[in-house]
Amino acid sequence: MTLKAYTNVPLPSFMYGTAWKKEATKELVELAVASGFRAIDTANQLIHYDEALVGEALQALEKKGIRRDTLFLQTKFTSAGGQDHRTPYDPSADLTTQVRQSFDSSLTHLCTEYVDSYVLHGPHQRRGLGEADWEVWAAMEGLYQSGETKMIGISNVTAGQLTELCEQANVKPMVVQNRCFAVVGWDREVREICQAHGIIYQGFSLLTANRAVLADPEIGTIAQRLGTGSAQVIFRFAMQIGMLPLTGTTSEQHMKEDLQAEQLALSTEEIRRIETIAL
Ligand SMILES: NC(=O)c1ccc[n+]([C@@H]2O[C@H](COP(=O)([O-])OP(=O)(O)OC[C@H]3O[C@@H](n4cnc5c(N)ncnc54)[C@H](OP(=O)(O)O)[C@@H]3O)[C@@H](O)[C@H]2O)c1
Repeated sequence: MTLKAYTNVPLPSFMYGTAWKKEATKELVELAVASGFRAIDTANQLIHYDEALVGEALQALEKKGIRRDTLFLQTKFTSAGGQDHRTPYDPSADLTTQVRQSFDSSLTHLCTEYVDSYVLHGPHQRRGLGEADWEVWAAMEGLYQSGETKMIGISNVTAGQLTELCEQANVKPMVVQNRCFAVVGWDREVREICQAHGIIYQGFSLLTANRAVLADPEIGTIAQRLGTGSAQVIFRFAMQIGMLPLTGTTSEQHMKEDLQAEQLALSTEEIRRIETIAL
């Protein structure tokens, strides 16, 4: 299954996330691809991710015959405020240079000449977009226009910030990546903006941010009807409402079970019920 943003570039419908994998990153990326994942998410931010080990996994996979162009690779620009002393660019340089340096270092880490999606890890401020965000976005638009990334996107964004970006950017984002809480209708406001603009909404922490939903007996009943688990019901729900879910599992069994969500089918009534389950 693939999804398409407004530019018609296809994305796989499920993504494997590499945050917090540390030294297990290489092994887990290889396992995720062997299990069937074709989209990998990372970031050039050593506090939480290890891009270079993702790159090592890609090289090992290439040797096993899994070509780079059969995989969807997404990484991020993280501003200096989100980095530790291992900032992968000169933090005293202007932001346009920082983006260029960070992107180049991502290409080196990932052993590739292009990425499929390049994401701004988050705006510099909580509300609205400031001058720094616009400078970073313009630099990212340049990377998109040069073809070095096939898509650009933004993460950890509010509905207000996304609206501003869609209205004022030269190039609108093609993807949005947010933590997805059921208590706010699974990020309904942001998802609706995405839908209106043909932006692919990627949801993370679907399980960890919604533990009460996972344990809800109604989800258990649906899982029982489908002969699956509650996690797979949530992932399937995400897919059926047009979301691209991320999973960060470290378990081979969970990888396989999660991918099976693509084969499930929830009824319209079940979808409606899950959409409002925590409201
Ligand atoms: N843009 C951002 O700021 C941002 C922030 C956070 C995350 N992310 C991205 O999103 C990815 C996923 O993060 P996440 O927070 O959604 O997941 P996560 O926290 O990495 O993992 C999900 C947790 O749920 C557990 N789990 C239990 N049953 C599971 C099942 N059937 N399938 C999957 N997990 C199961 C996992 O344990 P087991 O390992 O035992 O399965 C794991 O502890 C990250 O790796 C990263 O790429 C982005």
